[in-house]
Amino acid sequence: MQTRRRVFSGIQPSGNLHLGNYLGALKNWVGIQERYENYFCIVDLHAITVPQDPKILRSKIREVAAIYLASGIDPEKSVVFRQSRVPEHAELTWLLNCVARFGELSRMTQFKDKAQKGGAESASVGLYDYPVLMAADILLYNAHLVPVGEDQRQHLELTRTLARRFNHLYGETFVVPEAMILKTGARIMALDEPTAKMSKSSPVQGSYVAILDEPDTVRRKIRRAKTDSGSEITASPDKPAITNLLDIYGGLTGVPVPEIEKQYRSKGYGDLKKDLAEVVVEGLSPIRDRTRELLDNPRELDEILEAGAERAREVARSTLHEAWTRMGLD
Ligand code: TYM
Repeated sequence: MQTRRRVFSGIQPSGNLHLGNYLGALKNWVGIQERYENYFCIVDLHAITVPQDPKILRSKIREVAAIYLASGIDPEKSVVFRQSRVPEHAELTWLLNCVARFGELSRMTQFKDKAQKGGAESASVGLYDYPVLMAADILLYNAHLVPVGEDQRQHLELTRTLARRFNHLYGETFVVPEAMILKTGARIMALDEPTAKMSKSSPVQGSYVAILDEPDTVRRKIRRAKTDSGSEITASPDKPAITNLLDIYGGLTGVPVPEIEKQYRSKGYGDLKKDLAEVVVEGLSPIRDRTRELLDNPRELDEILEAGAERAREVARSTLHEAWTRMGLD
């Protein structure tokens, strides 16, 4: 009998996890895990929608698992697992593929952006279908809430559309989930280009602070972060760089941005950057150290992931069977 509401979320094991992933997703997950029944997934099937080096992918999967745990996800309270270890994700994707429409997938801005970069003609079919796999992830667990960053809003809308359409065509089957997007930290911007979001796939190291960056690297990256013209420390649309730095500061300390602005009223950009660098170092160092410790014992990590997959499979199997039955495939 399900008593607590369910939460599902995931991160791709591609590239280096960064401050945006931490503030937009992970920190939020840790904050809510006591209240819900949680499923936190390492979405490795999503990662292969663009080419990955198998050796690197293998190690990134463990690294992401270690970062989840080091950030405070407790495998006693949350189910932590790999998407590829629960075949129902791919199976439900097929059923939903037959409900999703070509037009609505073509309108996904993330696909359009990514396909544009590499040329739409050569984008994989997997990349195009990515949002349907994401919908399957969420609907398999009948999750009520999906804590994500702002960039996932459109994918969540599609998930809701697919759930409603399926329910309408075949009878009530899926919970229609809601996005849970925080005010602070939901859209962290690149340090070198504050009008673009901080991204794992950026080739420019200085554009993001990785969760596993060493303190001196963090300090250097923040020192070199782009600033705006003028000298006043305020969050406003004409100051995207300073707004971003304030957002990071607020996200990590929990201090509301107006308070931080007040604190820095008679100070300069240099003062803000210097203090922010220490805030980031302090926030990330314990996570980095704990991640390293966990990675020293990969057997234990693998066991946690395997146990998580077993628990996830139980729920996933029953939802998939229900969907099969509704569609006449039983
Ligand atoms: P991914 O791996 O790109 O990012 C993982 C999480 O980090 C958030 N995020 C950010 N938040 C704030 N500022 C940023 N610059 C920033 N960059 C990333 C993302 O919003 C996300 O919450 N499609 C998803 C993974 C996924 C998923 C799911 C999420 C697959 N299935 C089911 C939720 C539920 C993705 O690519 O996230």
